Amino acid sequence: MSRWTKRACVILLALGTGACVPLDDFMAAVFGRSMRDQRSFDPYENAQQNAMLPPEGAVPFASGNMAAGPFDVNLGQAEGATDVPAPFTQLDMVNDPALLDGLVNPVPAGAESLARGEELYIRTCTVCHGPDGAGSTGNIFEVHPAMVAYPLRGERALAYSDGYIYGMIRVGRGLMPPYGHQIGHYDRWHIVNYVRQLQGGAGN
Ligand code: HEC
Repeated sequence: MSRWTKRACVILLALGTGACVPLDDFMAAVFGRSMRDQRSFDPYENAQQNAMLPPEGAVPFASGNMAAGPFDVNLGQAEGATDVPAPFTQLDMVNDPALLDGLVNPVPAGAESLARGEELYIRTCTVCHGPDGAGSTGNIFEVHPAMVAYPLRGERALAYSDGYIYGMIRVGRGLMPPYGHQIGHYDRWHIVNYVRQLQGGAGN
């Protein structure tokens, strides 16, 4: 190694120590500026003026509509709702089908609720239970005749409490998937109202 190479190494080593600051200073001295010192904003700098606020009506990622884990039951409640029953599992309902019988439907079965319920029912339930709730009219019947979903009409279904249907939507059972993570608290009640209408009942 030549004398000059050794000297260059020593200089570079000296410049490189001290967390690059001397090197930055050196570069700034030679080129007039350093890449480390830019006119761009640092993260979170000047947040008051430059932070992008969420658009109005945006739902925060960590809101109640996100399940805490893949098999957790999601409350899916509207912000501030106080009438959401505490979490319960599919097994709870299987062991005690009357678990939610005492639950009071907080949504009156008005035209608006029935319209919302109908929209959600067609979107979610029709494929298995049929547009009229007869079970055998569901789309899956054509493909899997042996897997007719339970009818939501008839004597047996009329005897369900509102809370029972609410619970089925939220946690599902057996071949019926849970919809608690997709259908929020009040939407479940709109569907309950609509199922009641399908059954020919008056609503609540
Ligand atoms: C993927 C098909 C499927 C979809 C979609 C579905 N269900 Fe079901 N549902 C079933 C099956 C299958 C059962 C019978 C569950 C079992 O295995 O015990 C059932 C059972 C039920 C029961 C209880 C019946 C009883 O006798 O205890 C209710 C109430 C019910 N579903 C309501 C709904 C509602 C409301 C929706 C829409 C939000 C819905 N289901 C969506 C397949 C489905």
